Amino acid sequence: LTCLTGATAQQPVASDQDLAFIPQPLSVVRKTGDFILNEQTVIQVAADNTELQTLSELLAQGLYDRTGIRPRVQTASAASASASVPANTIVLRLVADTLGAEGYRLSVGQRGIAAGAAQGNGLFYAIQTLYQLLPIQSAVTTGIRLPAVEIVDKPRFGWRGLMLDVGRYFYSVDYIKKFIDYLAAHKMNVFHWHLVEDHGWRIEIKQYPRLTEVSAWRASTNFQRGPYINRNPHGGYYTHEDIKAVVDYAQSRYVTIVPEIELPGHSLSALRAYPELSCTGGPFELPEQWGIQKDIYCAGKEEVFTFLEGVLSEVVELFPGEIIHIGGDEAPKDRWKACPHCQRRIKEEGLKDEHELQSYFITRIEKFLNSKGKRIIGWDEILEGGLAPNAAVMSWRGTKGGIEAARMHHPVVMTPTTHMYLDYFQGEPYLEPSAIGGHLPLRKVYSFEPIPDELVGKEREFILGVQGNVWGEYIHSPEKADYMTYPRAAAVAEIGWSLPDKKDWNDFTRRLETQYLRYDQMGINYSRSAYQVYFEVKDDPANNRSTVTLKTDAYQPEIRYTLDGSDPGPDASRYTGPLEVPEYTTVRAATFRDGKRLTPVSAWTVVHFESNNQSK
Ligand code: ACM
Ligand code: ZN
Repeated sequence: LTCLTGATAQQPVASDQDLAFIPQPLSVVRKTGDFILNEQTVIQVAADNTELQTLSELLAQGLYDRTGIRPRVQTASAASASASVPANTIVLRLVADTLGAEGYRLSVGQRGIAAGAAQGNGLFYAIQTLYQLLPIQSAVTTGIRLPAVEIVDKPRFGWRGLMLDVGRYFYSVDYIKKFIDYLAAHKMNVFHWHLVEDHGWRIEIKQYPRLTEVSAWRASTNFQRGPYINRNPHGGYYTHEDIKAVVDYAQSRYVTIVPEIELPGHSLSALRAYPELSCTGGPFELPEQWGIQKDIYCAGKEEVFTFLEGVLSEVVELFPGEIIHIGGDEAPKDRWKACPHCQRRIKEEGLKDEHELQSYFITRIEKFLNSKGKRIIGWDEILEGGLAPNAAVMSWRGTKGGIEAARMHHPVVMTPTTHMYLDYFQGEPYLEPSAIGGHLPLRKVYSFEPIPDELVGKEREFILGVQGNVWGEYIHSPEKADYMTYPRAAAVAEIGWSLPDKKDWNDFTRRLETQYLRYDQMGINYSRSAYQVYFEVKDDPANNRSTVTLKTDAYQPEIRYTLDGSDPGPDASRYTGPLEVPEYTTVRAATFRDGKRLTPVSAWTVVHFESNNQSK
């Protein structure tokens, strides 16, 4: 990349405490000085490239949204746009480079800024990084200071995704665009759109209108774990026009949409509309409670494949991405075992059992989609009974399925429940809104390593990347979807983008402090659960005491606590180190800033269950 005329000082500045990128780039060198963004700043791109012009308009708008300054976009001949950077100019350019399709170089100097990448993808990421150099609260008086830096960056993985379950709960096109915008701002590049569930069919299919006429709406929703059902009609679906608009939006943010059409299970909504596609013939209603449904597509009836090929023909026309998710998870075999059509299929095809019948089902769908130029991915159950020849696997029941698939040289996306299920509780469950269960705090998401040690040599290359999943059972508003997704998706993003040796939990929490301010600016209703206090307790029954350590997932938190049962206020004792307390002490603690409590109060009562048990 051309050296900027103004960037004369080459010495790195000692401290980069003012820099807070998420995800952490491959290489960042701080230079002395700042670039001043002001009303005269210009964005320059080559005149002959519409993609560059689109990106420069995106940058101009993004800068305006964040600073109130909208630089003028200026086109130049390709030759002059590739020469040195004029004063007070931001140049975006395509350059032959070795950083791959998504890599970029960003050079911010006192006189100008240059972003270079081999493709638009990289420039889009350079722009996201540029935004992260902006001060958050800008009083636009004399100009906005961006610290001078030299950044060389590229992602570790090609698949950095988030899934949103719109089957169980419907989200508007407006929110889907926001969801895509937010993930792209984290340099993630896959939006996995879970469009089909037992409880709702969300995609218009012109050949089968009953799917949305009948099955996009339901009378009630199981709104909290247990028998808690409201009677509020709920539903909605996306028309082809809606989907085209979302696909366009995603393309402008270099996000690939992976649509999921669940089969053979999680499809009761289809069977409700067309009961003849089931083994029993129905009739069916959309279920009130969440949970796995026994009625799935019949694998023996030809009309099921005719139907699915009709559905998928429309899906492949709508989505330009190469990969279609075909589900494959949680398909109970009860109906197939009892169905004469399914049993005849098993016999005629020489299959061993219902697992091989599932494999037959998936392989047949794969063959069809391959013929349309698409490839399939499925949940790890598609390994059972034999993996379809060209299928990729999404490993969700731990990493075992992913390991098995990678050993067979099939592509794998890692999304294990243990680390990537963003519908799990992210804080102490007694302090959190309702969730499906589990416990997945930010620190645990961040700790995930997508390439298991079990894989060796070439096998490791089959791990495409990572994905966080936002399932909809108990997430019923855009605000709650934001809350469950962020900041944990920031950890997913960093796992997917940054090399393991760039990962640093403490520094991540430091950078997150700035990221939270960006979330405020973007209107993301992120969770503050990382500020919650949790307890690590070492009991010493012999001496009638315990050592209680107060922890959070936040950077240098101001923790205050009480031991007398009262709620800690801003004047309560400041926590500085482990507390030694006798049995039956209740420690109550919370995190504060500027005299304000940031979290609900956490509590732990010391009880030596072990010694009590022994005395009984
Ligand atoms: C899944 O969570 N059923 C993939
Ligand atoms: Zn059947």
